[in-house]
Amino acid sequence: MAVVELSNVGKRYPGAESLAVEDFNLTSEDGEFVVLVGPSGCGKTTTMRMIAGLEEHTEGAIKIGGRDVTGVAPKDRDIAMVFQSYALYPHMTVRDNMAFSLKLKKYAKSDIKKRVDDAAAVLGIEPLLDRKPRALSGGQRQRVALGRAIVRQPQVFLMDEPLSNLDAKLRVDMRAEIVKLHRKLGVTTFYVTHDQTEAMTMGQRIAVMKDGLVQQIDSPNTLYQHPANLFVAGFIGTPSMNFLTAEVSDNGQALSGPDFQLATDGPRRSVLADHGQTQVWAGIRPEHLHLSDSESADNRMQGQVEVVEPLGAMTMIQVLIGDTRVTAQIKPHQMVAMGDTVTLGCPSDKLYLFDKDSEMTLHGIDIGQSDAH
Ligand SMILES: Nc1ncnc2c1ncn2[C@@H]1O[C@H](COP(=O)(O)OP(=O)(O)O)[C@@H](O)[C@H]1O
Ligand SMILES: [Mg+2]
Repeated sequence: MAVVELSNVGKRYPGAESLAVEDFNLTSEDGEFVVLVGPSGCGKTTTMRMIAGLEEHTEGAIKIGGRDVTGVAPKDRDIAMVFQSYALYPHMTVRDNMAFSLKLKKYAKSDIKKRVDDAAAVLGIEPLLDRKPRALSGGQRQRVALGRAIVRQPQVFLMDEPLSNLDAKLRVDMRAEIVKLHRKLGVTTFYVTHDQTEAMTMGQRIAVMKDGLVQQIDSPNTLYQHPANLFVAGFIGTPSMNFLTAEVSDNGQALSGPDFQLATDGPRRSVLADHGQTQVWAGIRPEHLHLSDSESADNRMQGQVEVVEPLGAMTMIQVLIGDTRVTAQIKPHQMVAMGDTVTLGCPSDKLYLFDKDSEMTLHGIDIGQSDAH
């Protein structure tokens, strides 16, 4: 186990105009499960490869277990990587696949056997040890790939989209397995995914990345409740937060636009007054919207229902408010049909506010403390 420390880490690929990763700062706890999440091309793999030593960092410093690893070869960094492609050797049995790196390092035969047997027990793959990879299911192959990393007993695991090749159901099972495995082994783990649900369910801390830049590093709950900016607010949570361009009127008493009028609460009023701009982004999560029939409600958005998606436990509807399509989560027994005109309401203390230009969260408001919905 070890602390991984990234200080102002950056990467410029040869010939590239801009940095693929810029000013990355993160110090893991010993034994922490850290997730890097963000859209394709935001620099997740580059960051992992720099930690692994497969790619040189061109800026900043990386320390593993207190040691600066600049110039240290991947094999000497005491890390083990698991990739999306498991790259098992097809002609070798599971046991030999798992033992391979230990044989290269000339470990004693008895030691190798013990490590492979222990890892197989942890992963529940003892009955598969004599099989060849072609006789395994996708999930079993993924377990073997994990086993190959575990036998090395590294200080740090680096996992880059290891579940991407699995079908949806198996992915859900395996992500729980990996979390359990991490709890059992307690090894510091960096895990990459583009899937926010995977990030939220697995990470103790999550670094949200965009265009090579870390947007926010926080616990899943903090990211959800206190997103630092509009990008994080839209990326974390499913379905995504709704965003409306809103005019600020009456010194921040109200936010309005085509077909909507939102009253603010005390904290938001003072934030808006301090901010002093005439336009802001208003953000509302689908789960904080509800159908409202009260004409007197302070917060009203009116529009036509475009899509109705019954999901069993809840129903998602899409409503066109002015020219903005808004997603609302309603109760399954609430009957709404395509083409209906509906009124949506939202508690004032669930409103998120962002600067219109910088898209940064307007700070000073406390969201998610009460449960008015
Ligand atoms: N070997 C490389 N040479 C040049 N550019 C690269 C190389 N690998 C990745 N990039 C670029 O760096 C950026 C980040 O890529 P990557 O780290 O693979 O993102 P992610 O894993 O988040 O999808 C992208 O713009 C990509 O095109
Ligand atoms: Mg990648």
